Amino acid sequence: MGSLDSVAKTVLHRRYLRQDKEGNVVETPDEMFHRVAANLAAAESQFGGDVETTEAQFYEVMSNLDFLPNSPTLMNAGTELQQLAACFVLPIEDSIESIFTAVKQTALIHQSGGGTGFSFSNLRPEGDVVLKTGGVASGPVSFMKVFDTATEQIKQGGRRRGANMSVLDITHPDIEEFITIKAEEDVLRNFNLSVATGEAFWDAYESEETYDIVNPRTGETVRQADPDAMLSQTAEMAWETGDPGILFLDTINEQNPISELGKIEATNPCGEVPELPYEACILGSINLGQHTDNGDVDWEKLRTTVHLAVRFLDNAIEMSEFPVPEIEEMVTKTRRLGLGVMGFHDMLVDLRIPYYSEDAVEFAEELMGFIHDEAWKASKQLANERDPFPAWENSSYEEPVRNVTTTTIAPTGTISLIAGSSASIEPIYSVVYTKQVMGGLEVVNDRFVDIAKKREFYSADLVEKLHGRTTIQDVEAVPDDVKRLFQTAHDVPADHHLKVQAAFQRHVDNAVSKTVNLPQSASVDDIKEIFLSARDLGLKGVTVFRSGAKPEQVLGESPLK
Ligand code: CDP
Repeated sequence: MGSLDSVAKTVLHRRYLRQDKEGNVVETPDEMFHRVAANLAAAESQFGGDVETTEAQFYEVMSNLDFLPNSPTLMNAGTELQQLAACFVLPIEDSIESIFTAVKQTALIHQSGGGTGFSFSNLRPEGDVVLKTGGVASGPVSFMKVFDTATEQIKQGGRRRGANMSVLDITHPDIEEFITIKAEEDVLRNFNLSVATGEAFWDAYESEETYDIVNPRTGETVRQADPDAMLSQTAEMAWETGDPGILFLDTINEQNPISELGKIEATNPCGEVPELPYEACILGSINLGQHTDNGDVDWEKLRTTVHLAVRFLDNAIEMSEFPVPEIEEMVTKTRRLGLGVMGFHDMLVDLRIPYYSEDAVEFAEELMGFIHDEAWKASKQLANERDPFPAWENSSYEEPVRNVTTTTIAPTGTISLIAGSSASIEPIYSVVYTKQVMGGLEVVNDRFVDIAKKREFYSADLVEKLHGRTTIQDVEAVPDDVKRLFQTAHDVPADHHLKVQAAFQRHVDNAVSKTVNLPQSASVDDIKEIFLSARDLGLKGVTVFRSGAKPEQVLGESPLK
């Protein structure tokens, strides 16, 4: 088994390992990996596969920390819950019945460890008529508060706080209220917000014309809005609070291989999986730092891990149980997979490529291109062994494949702590810092320590000096080339964050969850520029975070608080 550091052990102990009725932990991390491997390998028997060999492979790949599935799989596989997916999208139609059905479904999903996203765009605006009662409608934002309260009361499987994504179309009459809602204290604490934009809006923006604000109930245009002013207002709130982000729904739907099944209007909480209503996605991430050898990528090992990971995730779909029958039906139809990566910065350090360099962007393309190609080879192979996904005949794919999508970049907020890797495709935050678990555990970047010892500039004093710093660029004791390898999120300018996101997005079927960090001194116009560049780069969505802005509650929260 790979070596788990003290943060990993603490995280597992508090949240992942099985407990008895009294709350005593009754399994070891090793037993957890065996439990998950045995559960997912069991799916092989339905397809005439080799259960025992597969179980051993799944155990190896997880316990070596080469690959980890999303948290619900680690927590629930082989337990009574058996709900393995992290990412859901639920439909909300313009009726009390539909809204409260979705509240109930959300509660059930959160209880099993999943996160939910919704489009509120179909709801009639505040003040509109309610025919049944002759009253007035309260509008999307007030209903979001109902979801928020429900979420607040249900911790996900008793182990973490629930997360939601709310999407509202930029043509909705209540859009200004939606954009500015987080200016209020303590409102929608369990929500990320995203403004949905499409071709009509961007055409109006380009030609400097107004665009239509439409009541979704009647289809009537109720007024005109200025696209530039709307973007500025969105940028202003993102400057202040980190929310809302922007979604490019036209790009998302142009790239949707199953457009015959409907229009995608929302994503899961962190934005990496745009989904049709009632779809769910199980994520898994390859730990890239475990796939280097002597300063180079171990491509053969990476290929093996990708193939195994695709099988693992497809088996997870087979084994997962869902709390809502409509979800079970959709998941079985589309078999959406979310294979991604963590430890990208670790890998760059091993390759001696600075994160903030053109080489890093080029390498990101090569790397994700490889993973993406291999993931599709694996999905094709599975389609031969098993069947293509049932909606394949209604898809744009010519060759039979097992899954509607294979790749995604998730934030890996908790699983990167278990793996001891840098998170997702993000640059590191700090070389030495205190993780707030068990009264505070010091985390020192082990790659930095290795290099410091080899180059003979290591000392306990230096570690002390680096503690809690969000940059080491001004520390004289560290040689310049090493400083460049350990640039942090704060050292990397916003346009480079975007370039890295775009490089990955070009080789990812779903979307990329990435935070574009900005210095405290950044202006509202800087944020507007980022929205425009994100559009130009063909991204599916973008989220910014300005240092010192009101902490973004859903993502910013430590999973251990
Ligand atoms: O590291 P881990 O697998 O726990 O999750 P992540 O990669 O940080 O987040 C992946 C997805 O899990 C998010 O986009 C949400 O859909 C879901 N999630 C959630 O529902 N609740 C949380 N507290 C964190 C994540």
